[in-house]
Amino acid sequence: MSDKLIIFDTTLRDGEQSPGASMTRDEKVRIARQLERLKVDVIEAGFAASSNGDFDAVQLVAKTIKDSTVCSLARANDRDISRAAEALKGANSARIHTFIATSALHMEKKLRMTPDQVFEQAKQSVRFARNLVADIEFSPEDGYRSDPDFLCRVLEAVINEGATTINVPDTVGYGVPELYGNFIKSLRERIPNSDKAIWSVHCHNDLGMAVANSLAGVKIGGARQVECTINGLGERAGNCSLEEVVMAVKTRRDYFGLDLGIDTRHILAASRMVSQTTGFVVQPNKAVVGANAFAHASGIHQDGVLKARDTYEIMRAEDVGWSANKLVLGKLSGRNAFKQRLNELGVQLDSEAEINAAFARFKELADRKAEIFDEDILALVSDESVSQDKEQFAFVSLAQHSETGERPHARVVFTSGGHEIHSESDGNGPVDASLKAIEAHVQSGAEMVLYSVNAISGSTESQGEVTVRLQNSGRVVNGTGSDPDIVVASAKAYLSALNKLQSKADRVAAQG
Ligand code: KIV
Ligand code: ZN
Repeated sequence: MSDKLIIFDTTLRDGEQSPGASMTRDEKVRIARQLERLKVDVIEAGFAASSNGDFDAVQLVAKTIKDSTVCSLARANDRDISRAAEALKGANSARIHTFIATSALHMEKKLRMTPDQVFEQAKQSVRFARNLVADIEFSPEDGYRSDPDFLCRVLEAVINEGATTINVPDTVGYGVPELYGNFIKSLRERIPNSDKAIWSVHCHNDLGMAVANSLAGVKIGGARQVECTINGLGERAGNCSLEEVVMAVKTRRDYFGLDLGIDTRHILAASRMVSQTTGFVVQPNKAVVGANAFAHASGIHQDGVLKARDTYEIMRAEDVGWSANKLVLGKLSGRNAFKQRLNELGVQLDSEAEINAAFARFKELADRKAEIFDEDILALVSDESVSQDKEQFAFVSLAQHSETGERPHARVVFTSGGHEIHSESDGNGPVDASLKAIEAHVQSGAEMVLYSVNAISGSTESQGEVTVRLQNSGRVVNGTGSDPDIVVASAKAYLSALNKLQSKADRVAAQG
């Protein structure tokens, strides 16, 4: 048995299935690059057969990524598998991940298939996929709630057909660590050819145990691949969180005794990138990547850490990408210093034009804010900040007036398809007035289902980071914006959400 734990990241596939977390093709490529920098072993880039947009994203990620294996999900049928293989053609190392549900409930109610039909389809699909790509992963969906005898029969057969990885999903997050770990162990013990495949765990977080269940699958069950997402992004309560599982295995190497290929110094940048791209804010007390993860507020703790760091710290903040000195740049910093800091933060901008655009925004921010922190830089280079020229809507300026006892009024200037628009409105507050001014012109009709403001670096001097979630005709998108002025940040976030609604509509139209 290998001593290496394979990290399979599914932020771009299972993570993206979270309502509102959908990403554009370019955003996916950007995140995939960061995952490659993090040295994840396998990147599940999408579900190629699900839409033309997903196909394109898998294809581009496959062409761009050199060091990680790139994987596409596919239902267990020839069409899905052929699309996945087609999208993965340009990859250095490609994997097809095919799945079919095996629990009685899913087979009867969802698939309307008998167990024998599912058995045959699973076998046939792996055989078909194996002729296209050598690296094949098979997942029995809702595997943890499946009848163990039936599961053994299916898994033995797909290994015989050439599946190289067997993944056992706890699709609905029903497992508890000891039981899930023993479930994997007993499958491996009962299936005669189990040693011909690598065993993998895939846990959802509905009961808050996805990380614990995954670790039990590794420790008790002998799994050597964990499927996870950055920030635990995913449907409902999300998936197993990459940063937590990785740091648990690294910090408790004494217990797990496993090696990892991950360069943990890029974890924080990956977390920020996923959060800013999707608008899913990371809670302050989130392990490893939350703003408070390494903050010691109590006097006793601060005193202890100053005397000997390991009194209260089990990991080093620098090891996951928090810099020891968070104040990095100021008004007088030059382009080279800015570029070097981007490198240190693991941010790679594609062209000189992108670096110039980001640097111009940095200078603009430095004029208004004396101290620029890493968090500010990461916010500054988020996709929508540097690629406004490609978007339908872009923020230009805003003026608003609010006074106690008077109804606030805002005037917003923005571009729509390159044309400058001036629009104004009243509102319940300055934010409401500004967003109403934009909506008065755009008339998207979208419903706002979430609005949240977060101080990027913790004080009133910091930038506000706003997330706006809009819903329209069954589509849900998140937009983010940051600025020291939270009214401006809100207008930017609203325009960013409108851009995403627009690009989603374009993608749907292109498929039609
Ligand atoms: O949760 C699940 O069952 C899945 C499979 C498609 C692997 O995501
Ligand atoms: Zn899943």
